[in-house]
Amino acid sequence: MAAFKTLDDLGDVTGKVALVRVDLNLPMKEGRASDVTRVEAVKDTILELADKGAKVILLAHFGRPKGQRSSVLSTSMVQGDVERVLDREIMFIPEVAGPVAEQAIGILGAGDIGLMDNVRFWPGEEANDPEFARGIAANGDFYVNDAFSAAHRAHATTEGLAHFLPAYAGRAMERELKALDAALGNPQTPVAAVVGGAKVSTKLAVLENLVTKVQHLIIGGGMANTFLAAKGVDVGKSLCEHDLTDTANAIMAAADVAGCTVHLPYDVVVAKEFAPNPPSMRTCNVHEVEADEMILDVGPLAVEALGDVLKTCRTLVWNGPMGAFETPPFDAATVALARTAAALTLEGSLVSVAGGGDTVAALAHAGVAEDVTYVSTAGGAFLEWMEGKILPGVAALST
Ligand code: 3PG
Repeated sequence: MAAFKTLDDLGDVTGKVALVRVDLNLPMKEGRASDVTRVEAVKDTILELADKGAKVILLAHFGRPKGQRSSVLSTSMVQGDVERVLDREIMFIPEVAGPVAEQAIGILGAGDIGLMDNVRFWPGEEANDPEFARGIAANGDFYVNDAFSAAHRAHATTEGLAHFLPAYAGRAMERELKALDAALGNPQTPVAAVVGGAKVSTKLAVLENLVTKVQHLIIGGGMANTFLAAKGVDVGKSLCEHDLTDTANAIMAAADVAGCTVHLPYDVVVAKEFAPNPPSMRTCNVHEVEADEMILDVGPLAVEALGDVLKTCRTLVWNGPMGAFETPPFDAATVALARTAAALTLEGSLVSVAGGGDTVAALAHAGVAEDVTYVSTAGGAFLEWMEGKILPGVAALST
């Protein structure tokens, strides 16, 4: 992991203007955030800087307004949620640069917090226009990036600002990068990766990278069906990308060369219809799936064997559910394996890092979100990191 500066490297910040990039892209329900995990993640950074006397100016995107103002995508929509989590009042600033922003920042005292409007209202943000970044930087003394979940975007406030101001990782970014380094950068071996979810096509690059990095690749969810089909298994009417079976075979061949064992389910839970507890549900060997059945979860024997694999490992990276976990009882494999991973983590034998899309929901559903070593709040950024990509927002922080 390349070295980066953290808040520990800051000198006296009293009265200085900290431009802090956070991710306030919160899921909304009836005008309020339905999940404030991302605000909770950046709370430490904001309060630490404010309590040390900096003027803390929050920069964030909210949705995809495509370079135009939109009242429903104003960051003022989440101002109340941020105030509640921080337990502080914050000042809303309707601009990100220019005299209005300058004046507003001038009004703030040491330790006050301001929230600028959605940085994506200006086309310069996504274009990573240096002039746009220069305009924002003109009002700041230093830049803090605490938005790992937006670090896969090379935008003005996720990357560009680092070229104009001294740049530091915030506490959430620091935690995230350390956890990710412990999982894939510099892990204790053997390493297992669990990759689930519906489609191989969305995670091709992830699989291609992981087979070169981990000793055990556990494939679950709908994507396992494509791998089973590639091995000649008739998966009935299961979700399966038949056009990707050659790719699946190539990934398995690459795994072989790299010494990575690919684990596919050998027993599965099938049903003729996709509904909660369908009467047609049964558990069978993968070779016994009927033409009118679909695979909806990994079977109990395979889950037990996968648990045994995890017991031999020191590190686990998890992305995606093992089955159709939102529809019981097809959550059984995800829940069982997540609980094994959590128990091994609590025992101290496994470092477990999870993230991306449905993964956080799946772990929360299994009741173990608190028991794994680290859960990333990032979606796309977590996947790009699993693909082995250098994230521009992280690279810009390297000293
Ligand atoms: C996210 O919600 O995953 C991040 O905030 C990135 O959002 P984006 O996909 O619109 O860039």
